[in-house]
Amino acid sequence: MVSGVEPLLPSDRTVGIVGPGVMGGTLRDGMIAAGLISAEQVWTASKQTTVAEYRSLLANAGLVLVCVKPGQIGPVTTRLRDAGIPPEALLVSILGGITTDRLETLLDLPNVWLRAMPNTPCLVGKGMTVVCGGRGATEAHIRLAERIFGAMGSCRAVEEQYFNAVTALSGSGPAYMYLGLLSRICGLIPVPGADRACDTKLFPWLHMCGSRRNVWSPHGSCC
Ligand SMILES: NC(=O)c1ccc[n+]([C@@H]2O[C@H](COP(=O)([O-])OP(=O)(O)OC[C@H]3O[C@@H](n4cnc5c(N)ncnc54)[C@H](OP(=O)(O)O)[C@@H]3O)[C@@H](O)[C@H]2O)c1
Repeated sequence: MVSGVEPLLPSDRTVGIVGPGVMGGTLRDGMIAAGLISAEQVWTASKQTTVAEYRSLLANAGLVLVCVKPGQIGPVTTRLRDAGIPPEALLVSILGGITTDRLETLLDLPNVWLRAMPNTPCLVGKGMTVVCGGRGATEAHIRLAERIFGAMGSCRAVEEQYFNAVTALSGSGPAYMYLGLLSRICGLIPVPGADRACDTKLFPWLHMCGSRRNVWSPHGSCC
C-alpha cells in the first residue's frame, strides 16, 4: 500500500472486478497504483466464472465494479444474485446506457448501486468520470466513488439525467479525437489500406492510433 493513503476498504474486504477488459483492468490498476487497495484484495470474474466460484469470491466483498458490456448485464446480475452477494457490498456500474433503476430491477436485491461514466484517459491518470447514486446511495458512497475515479483523473457527481450526454461527450469523446487524428495522419499516406498500416508494424510511431481500440470496444459498446 502507498503510505499516507487512507485505504478504501478495511483490509478484510475484497474488491471485485466483473469484466476484466480495457476499463476493468484500468480501474483495478489505477486503484492499486494509488494505494487505495492492495493487489491481494482484488479479484476478477470473467464470462467463465461459475456461480460456485462467484460464491467464494463474493464472501468478503465490500465493493464490486461491474465493467462488462451493457449486453452482458443480465447474466452478470443473475450470477451475483445466485451466488449470494452480501447485502453490504456496494456495486458500481460503468456500463453505458444502463440506468440505476434498471440495475436495481435486474439484481432485485437491496444492494446499493452507483453508476459511473469514466473514459479511457483514466489509463494515464487523466480521466474524467461522473458518478451518481441509485436507491439508498448516501453521500459517503458518492465520496467513495470520487476517491476511486479521482485516483485516475477527475471525478464529479452529477444527476443521472445527464448521463447520456456525458457518455456521448466525455465517454466516447476520445474515440472521436482518435478518429480525427487518424484521418489527418492517414490522409498523408497515399496508399490503399493506410488505415490498417497506421495501426500496425509499418508505422509503429503511430501506435497512438491503436489507442482508439481502447475506446471502440471490440464489437461495439453494446454486445
Ligand atoms: N472503453 C471505454 O472507453 C469506456 C468508457 C466508459 C465506459 N465504458 C463501459 O465499460 C464497459 C466495458 O468496456 P470495455 O471497453 O472495457 O470493454 P472490454 O474491453 O470488451 O471489456 C469487457 C470485459 O468483460 C468480459 N465479459 C464479457 N461477458 C462477461 C460476463 N458475463 N461476466 C464477466 N465478464 C464478462 C469480457 O471478456 P471477453 O473479452 O472474453 O468477452 C471483457 O474482458 C462497457 O459497458 C462500456 O460501456 C467503456
